[in-house]
Amino acid sequence: MNDDQALRRKMADALEAAGKLQSPAWRRAVEAVPRHEFLRGGFFETVPGVSPTSWAPVMPDAPGWLERCYADESLVTQIAGTIVPGDLEGRISRAPTSSSTMPGLVVRMDEDLLVEDGMRVLEIGTGTGYSTALLCERLGEDLVTSVEVDADVAMRARNALAAVGYHPELVVGDGLAGHKDGAPYDRLIATCGITTIPQAWIEQVRPGGLIVATVCGWLYSSELARLTVQRDGTATGRLLGGQISFMLARPQSPPPLGMLPDLDAGEERPTTVGADLLGDWTARFVMQLATPRVQRLDLPRNGRTEHVLLDVDAGAWAAVYADGAGWLVRQGGPYRVWDLVEERIGLWQVAGQPDLSEFRISVADGQQTVFWPS
Ligand SMILES: C[S@@+](CC[C@H](N)C(=O)[O-])C[C@H]1O[C@@H](n2cnc3c(N)ncnc32)[C@H](O)[C@@H]1O
Repeated sequence: MNDDQALRRKMADALEAAGKLQSPAWRRAVEAVPRHEFLRGGFFETVPGVSPTSWAPVMPDAPGWLERCYADESLVTQIAGTIVPGDLEGRISRAPTSSSTMPGLVVRMDEDLLVEDGMRVLEIGTGTGYSTALLCERLGEDLVTSVEVDADVAMRARNALAAVGYHPELVVGDGLAGHKDGAPYDRLIATCGITTIPQAWIEQVRPGGLIVATVCGWLYSSELARLTVQRDGTATGRLLGGQISFMLARPQSPPPLGMLPDLDAGEERPTTVGADLLGDWTARFVMQLATPRVQRLDLPRNGRTEHVLLDVDAGAWAAVYADGAGWLVRQGGPYRVWDLVEERIGLWQVAGQPDLSEFRISVADGQQTVFWPS
């Protein structure tokens, strides 16, 4: 057994012990697919102790590179939409735009996809191609289609997949539109986050088929969801729990913040919903259900931190800040952001603050509803 085979076996043991890898078929795939071959172009690591987050390249000749390819870690492979590790000496402080997802999450989602032999799968977000390779190994390359929005990322994935012997159908395009030519699929899995499940996905998965995707929002709380496509063209399901997060699908990313509105203009009042709740994963998810177009920034103003929620397109905003033992909110613009947050948080609290794993999701006529059972 060579070094990388031993590392794969060790990783499979660890993922099994953690309960992420559950079935022998997926274990065989994890042991067969050489993740390091999908990271030949290197990856980025964070530079410790630097703010804002800064990234430095780690190339295959770096000590420990091979071992790190088999750690249960996400490895960033592209920054700011174009920059790959080989382009950079030094460091960069921009946002990651492509990565090899942590193997534990990939296999957990694969297990949640409940595939059976002979099923056809559409994957959205090819990335490095590692997760695509696992699907090929499990199902056979003829049954796998993967869509990647970035042509350069897709080309690298195609090369890496071919180098290790997989030739699935790879499509360059916006995966939010699915890939109609290959429909119907038995399963659809997304390895980028989405704010809403596209109607195209529901139309391209057969009735009874499953969609597994991470539902995110612009307040950066998110959760994995599994939906069953129904005969009437709707889809229903539930959130699966685990506080899963993914980089958002490119067309669904939030708009730039631009010029801030005058945060001193507005009406101030006390609020019983404090900004401390923004630190709670589930509460934040509930808030973004109430105000899906809102983004957050924390600003030092007037000698304190103001937690600002801003809808850039509408110009609505709320600034929440501590006032002695309580909280104050100041709001402006065409609608009252914090009023909506308070109302939805109140309903969630009255329901006993259910966990996200108890939430349900349904999509009908392109309208997504996420709710907790009453
Ligand atoms: C987390 S990475 C995917 C990781 C990949 N599954 C792997 O194992 O390497 C997310 C990928 O989704 C891609 N992406 C973002 N928006 C997309 C869209 N609308 N359609 C298809 N791919 C998209 C990104 O370019 C990125 O490569």
